[in-house]
Amino acid sequence: MPEIITTIATLRARVAEARRAARQDGPADAPTGRVVLVPTMGALHDGHLRLVSRARDLGGVVVVSIFVNPLQFGPGEDLERYPRTLDADVVALEGLADIVFAPTAAEMYPHGPSETRVSAGESGTRFEGASRPGHFDGVLTVVTKLFNIVQPDVAVFGQKDAQQAHVIGRMVDDLDLPVSIAVVDTVRETDGLALSSRNRYLAEEDRLAAVALSQALAAGAETASGGVDAALQAARARIEAEPAVKLDYLAIVDPETFREASPDHHGPALMLIAARVGTTRLIDNQRLTV
Ligand code: PAF
Repeated sequence: MPEIITTIATLRARVAEARRAARQDGPADAPTGRVVLVPTMGALHDGHLRLVSRARDLGGVVVVSIFVNPLQFGPGEDLERYPRTLDADVVALEGLADIVFAPTAAEMYPHGPSETRVSAGESGTRFEGASRPGHFDGVLTVVTKLFNIVQPDVAVFGQKDAQQAHVIGRMVDDLDLPVSIAVVDTVRETDGLALSSRNRYLAEEDRLAAVALSQALAAGAETASGGVDAALQAARARIEAEPAVKLDYLAIVDPETFREASPDHHGPALMLIAARVGTTRLIDNQRLTV
């Protein structure tokens, strides 16, 4: 079983010790002493486990953080009902993670909600940031804290939260943070629904309707050779055929800048979708070539 650590001081001491031991005992030709962090909010599913497997493959000490970060939830969002399943998460991490860092909110924010925030800037106000004001500042603030606490060589995030991976990559570049970012592809159910901790909120009929998101992205990718507008139209038509799905946004962006692609854009692009299905808000995305 991975070791469960709940305080910052213990985590720091344990990571330093593991790093020292790996340097001393590891084979001369292997990447020893490396620390890989997988930040999560728990309620782990196969998508998370894929991130942790990538961390394992990178070698070294694998730390998985499990912390439902209040800073990234807006008023009226699902902070209180967000699933907390620490015991099951630790079991799922057996053989994959060395350390689970599971602090309380009081440990992470002893003075109450952090007054100092890392701003995602303009990138953090588009798409997810427009629907969830302040969300990305909350994410970047806790990710920065986790980077400072764990001091990982590599941190692993999922492509499912593409805008999150983008703003984190941008923060690392902008602030010269000494960490490499690895991004791992989205894991899907057999019908195409992207795995998400929030899927468990879906009522049975909403679960069936939710497949419209990945199908809309697939329709967009299939028609992308006809241009940005054709791809958007095809995706929108699939969503409009499913009355239980209420579209929040659908967009095609340049993956480098996360700015909306112009109608005459050519080349690699990313289609983003966010929608409410019943009471559950879901997001997904798909790479395409326009
Ligand atoms: O993707 C998540 O689960 C969270 O946004 C993260 C990166 C763990 C920060 O709380």
